Amino acid sequence: MAHPIPTTINIDDKLAQFTSTWTPHIIAELNGQQVKLAKVEGEFTWHDHADEDELFLVLTGRLTMQMRDDAGELHEQIVEPGEIIVIPRGLQHNPIATPGTSVLLFEPSATKHTGEKMLERTVVDQPRI
Ligand code: NI
Repeated sequence: MAHPIPTTINIDDKLAQFTSTWTPHIIAELNGQQVKLAKVEGEFTWHDHADEDELFLVLTGRLTMQMRDDAGELHEQIVEPGEIIVIPRGLQHNPIATPGTSVLLFEPSATKHTGEKMLERTVVDQPRI
């Protein structure tokens, strides 16, 4: 089997290619997982992913990750640039971002960013850039 030579992927260059918010853009794939970039601002929506853990790496801005434990209690974590948070499968979460926030996401190819819910915000065909 041929081994194509990979090229460097520049995250800033990729971020400059789109302005839409809450629309993940796929920049790489490996092992059935996708690496995505998204610009996010304001509140997303409460959701969970039944079968997938989800990694967020904050690149710019600030993300407040709201989470609800099994007792229904609200928890918040602030995620700053250079920090990651991993949301385990099944956990209810709701990202809220300051203007100018960008994140790198790492999750299985099948993951819908709104979880199982099809919402106005759900982007089914996430663009590849
Ligand atoms: Ni999620």
